[in-house]
Amino acid sequence: MVRPLIAGNWKMNGLKSALAEVEAVNTALADYPDKADCLICPPATLVAAMATKASARLKVGGQYCHNKSSGAHTGDISAEMLADAGASYVIVGHSERRDDHAERSAFVKSQAKAALQAGLIPIVCVGEDYQQRAKGETAEVIERVMRKSLPELSENAPGLVVAYEPKWAIGTGEIPTMAEIGEVHALIRRVLIDAYGEVGRSMPILYGGSMKPGNAAEILAVPEVNGGLIGGASLKAADFMAIYETAIQ
Ligand code: PGA
Repeated sequence: MVRPLIAGNWKMNGLKSALAEVEAVNTALADYPDKADCLICPPATLVAAMATKASARLKVGGQYCHNKSSGAHTGDISAEMLADAGASYVIVGHSERRDDHAERSAFVKSQAKAALQAGLIPIVCVGEDYQQRAKGETAEVIERVMRKSLPELSENAPGLVVAYEPKWAIGTGEIPTMAEIGEVHALIRRVLIDAYGEVGRSMPILYGGSMKPGNAAEILAVPEVNGGLIGGASLKAADFMAIYETAIQ
């Protein structure tokens, strides 16, 4: 049994005033049994403040990290800095980063490695675009990108999470069918076991892309879906907690 993870990705949203949502999440989590992990990845400017406000049940993560721990990289942030600010996870290889900043899988792999070395759990994102799905290339793309993006794991690694995020479903309100999600998650599980052996069975595989309170129950019931990476619906505590509630049913 894989412990579920409900992760919010705030993307480039949130000023200090948004930290009020953390109070609401803390309060809601206190009422729920501790049967799923809960994480918010705010913009880097809010990581330290959020980590101070978050209860022990709410984890905080970054949305990106450089592959070096320090140095002459203006505007960048390292995994070590995120850990120092109170983060315990970091998203790597999100399709928006791959597109906006030309981050290739080899770089994503090195980011994941840097995250692990800093004691952070990387959330490695993979997903096909609309044309790849239309051409029947989804499985090939997912496996190829995973094999290039997954880091080696040492025995004391803090963990690893994979997020399946079809690009065409992100922020669009469109989602794959449950059968399509199930097929990709089963493939991701097979690749994880192939890459890491037994430990690959217990790594959470998240679905991301237009997950909302209204579709979360159906998606989270699909075999090998162990949680969600939620963008838009994570910005308001009420929606985010409605999804969390679904995960602990
Ligand atoms: P969305 O974003 O929930 O707004 O579609 C998900 C993501 O990109 O992580």
